[in-house]
Amino acid sequence: MVGDVTTSLMSKPGPPYAKKGPMKLRLGFLASHVGSNLQAIIDACRSGRLAADLCVVICNNSRAQAFERARRAGIATRHLSSHTHPSEEALDAAILQTLREHEVNLIVLAGYMRKLGGRTLAHYRGRVLNIHPALLPKFGGPGMYGARVHEAVIAAREKESGATIHLVTEEYDQGPIVAQRRIALLPGDTAESLAARVLEVEHALYPDTLARIARGEIALLG
Ligand code: GRF
Repeated sequence: MVGDVTTSLMSKPGPPYAKKGPMKLRLGFLASHVGSNLQAIIDACRSGRLAADLCVVICNNSRAQAFERARRAGIATRHLSSHTHPSEEALDAAILQTLREHEVNLIVLAGYMRKLGGRTLAHYRGRVLNIHPALLPKFGGPGMYGARVHEAVIAAREKESGATIHLVTEEYDQGPIVAQRRIALLPGDTAESLAARVLEVEHALYPDTLARIARGEIALLG
């Protein structure tokens, strides 16, 4: 591990950056597939490393493994997708309603393969986190997900990669960076080997960052 960087969201002056101090986290998750980051957060709560209420897991894919993980942990689940809600607006409204019903105060995107709708984003502005498997602002944006990210990092002969947690805005991967953790690339790294090491970093970085937000060490916008 090469190091940890946290941006100075806390040092930005005046409203809307004024919220400081500890925060009782009520997390709502959106996921699409495996949910290993969700699992890492569940495990961190169990072990006492993170104090947070895990309120609801929303998946757009009814067969997502994330649902199984949520059910095993006793977290409410909701399948909301273009199948359940063919209109974009209705889907956005249903997601927002579900999050509000569960009194979620921070949205955690954990491998969610869709864009969050405008109403949800507006309601939770500055309160939506995503994790990306590279050091943003490099290697992000539309189409940059999964193996493609790691292939691009290797092709660019980068010396390091890592994981980034950022606030979600309308544009993919462009919101303010909240935390990053770096790892060195190793000789002979493939997209697969790099992906596995970065995922390990993600599993530590997401719970750690949430714990720092809960303790008031990182203040969110809004
Ligand atoms: C992670 O690599 C994350 O960076 C990206 O999607 C992947 C999700 O993995 N946004 P999982 O579903 O948490 O296992």
